[in-house]
Amino acid sequence: MRTVINNIATYLPSRVVTNDDLSKTLDTSHEWILTRTGIERRHLVSDGEFASDLGIVAAKRVIEQADFDPANLDAIIVSTTTADRHFPSCGARIQGEIGAVKAFAFDVGAACAGFIYSLTIADSLIKGANLKNILLVCCETLSRFVDWTDRSTCVLFGDGAGALLLQSSNDDHRGIISTKLYTDGSKEKYNSILAHNGPQNDHRGYTTMKGQSVFKYAIECMDQSVTEILTENDMTFDDVDWIIPHQANRRILESLCKMKNFPPEKMIITTNEHANTSSASIPLAMGYGIESGMIKRGHTILLTALGAGLVWGSAILRL
Ligand code: UT7
Repeated sequence: MRTVINNIATYLPSRVVTNDDLSKTLDTSHEWILTRTGIERRHLVSDGEFASDLGIVAAKRVIEQADFDPANLDAIIVSTTTADRHFPSCGARIQGEIGAVKAFAFDVGAACAGFIYSLTIADSLIKGANLKNILLVCCETLSRFVDWTDRSTCVLFGDGAGALLLQSSNDDHRGIISTKLYTDGSKEKYNSILAHNGPQNDHRGYTTMKGQSVFKYAIECMDQSVTEILTENDMTFDDVDWIIPHQANRRILESLCKMKNFPPEKMIITTNEHANTSSASIPLAMGYGIESGMIKRGHTILLTALGAGLVWGSAILRL
């Protein structure tokens, strides 16, 4: 039994904000943002547009693309750490909006590694609980959780969503081959990305980040999980067609290639267009890779991500 990705759709909000736009209100420049991060522009939500709104559009697109009846969904898993509200979940709202009457729905909060966490849960539900059809939605609005006067964080993030239709299959040549998850919340110094706007802080405050330490951990942790998952599956980079990493910073991805020998020609990078969209970044990059004709059915794809927690992980799948 395999969990296969049969369709993927994405959605980016229509408002595009360039680095030059930001430099009109912030002490920053296109050159600084581009050379430090690789980001050129980002899509941002407008007033009244929230994470579940983005997720609903992506979900409807994937259902239409697959010509699939949402009444046949067994579960909806939504990855988000920037939900509209603490409760009800984005999953519940999306379930109601798309008419998935039979599906149970819930949110997963694993920051920028949320897609790989959600994929692992979906795979377990299909293999362990005999579910047939799962909708996985990643929808994020980091722009609502940053201080737009803090140049060290606000320039880094974008908003967006991706949705995947995951189905059980007997085709052993396709589907999720392996996933691997890690968490290290034990050391205070590791908790270097914090969204402060919760009850502990009377709902005030925004995201802060110790950029340089996260940069270092991103390289070490993603290298560790990729090395371990490839070794455990008796694979090397030669067995992989594409690597799709979390798109936080182009320099992190270039460092993985230079310092850890990741093959640059196999890496899909969308940081310039999307910025850091947290857990939506891998589905958005995967959607781009498919639409542009790079990723084809039968290709083997290696995913890796790290986020606040720290949480990180990798996955290998064949499309
Ligand atoms: O998605 C979860 C994972 N997150 C990440 O992986 C993010 C990892 N970290 C990073 O991507 C990078 O550390 C940043 C892009 C956040 C920062 O780049 P950096 O090369 O580490 O810069 P820095 O923080 O060391 O700052 C260098 C200088 C500072 O000025 P001084 O102290 O040298 O005078 C900053 O104040 O750049 C200044 N600076 C800016 N200047 C212009 C910080 N932000 C800006 C800005 N525009 N937007």
